[in-house]
Amino acid sequence: MRMYDLIQKKKQGTPLTKEEISFMIQGYTKGEIPDYQMSAMMMAICFQGMTDAETLELTLAMRDSGDVLDLSEIPGKKVDKHSTGGVGDKTSLVLAPMIAALGIPVAKMSGRGLGHTGGTIDKLECFPGFTTGLTERQFFDAVKTVGMAIMGQTANLAPADKKLYALRDVTATVNQLSLIAGSIMSKKLASGADAIVLDVKTGNGAFMQKEEDAFALAREMVRIGNGAGRETVAVVTDMDQPLGNAVGNILEVKEAILSLNGQGPADLMEVVYALGTRMALLGGAAAAPEEALEKLKQVIINGSALEKFKEFVKNQGGDDSFVSNPQLLPNAKHLLKVENTQSGYVQRILAQEVGLASLVLGGGRTTKDSVIDLSVGILLEKKRGDAVAPGDSLAIIYANDMEKAIEAYGKIVRAYEIGEEKPAPVPMVKGIVTG
Ligand code: URA
Repeated sequence: MRMYDLIQKKKQGTPLTKEEISFMIQGYTKGEIPDYQMSAMMMAICFQGMTDAETLELTLAMRDSGDVLDLSEIPGKKVDKHSTGGVGDKTSLVLAPMIAALGIPVAKMSGRGLGHTGGTIDKLECFPGFTTGLTERQFFDAVKTVGMAIMGQTANLAPADKKLYALRDVTATVNQLSLIAGSIMSKKLASGADAIVLDVKTGNGAFMQKEEDAFALAREMVRIGNGAGRETVAVVTDMDQPLGNAVGNILEVKEAILSLNGQGPADLMEVVYALGTRMALLGGAAAAPEEALEKLKQVIINGSALEKFKEFVKNQGGDDSFVSNPQLLPNAKHLLKVENTQSGYVQRILAQEVGLASLVLGGGRTTKDSVIDLSVGILLEKKRGDAVAPGDSLAIIYANDMEKAIEAYGKIVRAYEIGEEKPAPVPMVKGIVTG
């Protein structure tokens, strides 16, 4: 088999076979197929697309290019959750202990944040001593004893995707549906869960800004997951304003703990309950959505989700006293109020601008190796639909550097769209995609 012939075949619009896709992915992972040939292939795929069968084979080949976690020694049905990334998205921190409190084992691999969106691992590292650098053995034992564990992605998780994503990034070939869906799902499938719930974000702060694109991505990923033998459901959710009020690592952790105490912001909890319902159903903790929702509400009311979170933090080396006293987590040095100048209602809060403001403050990574400042961020005091008057505080900027705070200030002012009319409420859940 020659890569040249495969490129020619794809260029003409003929689907590639399973064997051809395996040859290409294996050869590229081993370094036997050069970047220039793979670039040509990626561009041909951008123009010709891929069939459902090709997309599935590509995903499976990328999944199998590295370690595939076998979670079968952990009793029970393991349900994983993945978000396509958003601003203020601390859903996993709230949801994982809720699901574990329902008796569904949570064995989760998470990533760090890059660019304007945050990552679960960075947030967990706000607890002094907390580690996600677990061996596979420690990870399995933690899930068995506590009911939940979160570890960092192993270096050898879908290495073909890692190499290919870096190549797509510099050859203008990221934006192709099969390639995006395959990339995300190869990593999810390699993480070993029996069932997967996907949170596909749409809106200004999301990877897929248009709703129709988000649904198309959701359908593609659900098709792949089910095709790979893993029950998969996608929930398309709003990211046209940051989720909850807090953006920035420690601020988000505090909000997650508040949520586990029953005082979570309404928009965040709507997403948590929508995803949780699907996870509870897939995990067998409930037979109908109403029952799942009721059980999820109970684990907040009776405190068992918060207890589970404490146990989890302690088990992974973190100081769990901060879960009981989150106000002791360090604050940034300077607090700067963003003052409103107009009368009216908040129409929109451009999530991407808020994410970029947090990045400017030092709360996010511009490169893979950036060191982040956990204490900085933004606390939104007004959200979409809120009435505002001149002089009101729209948000508080938490900064350790006044120059950066002033740059972030401009971004937050730009993020807020104020208009005269009260906007109609926007549903957080746009739809659910099942197999
Ligand atoms: N995220 C991924 O992991 N892969 C893509 O291709 C796009 C977003």
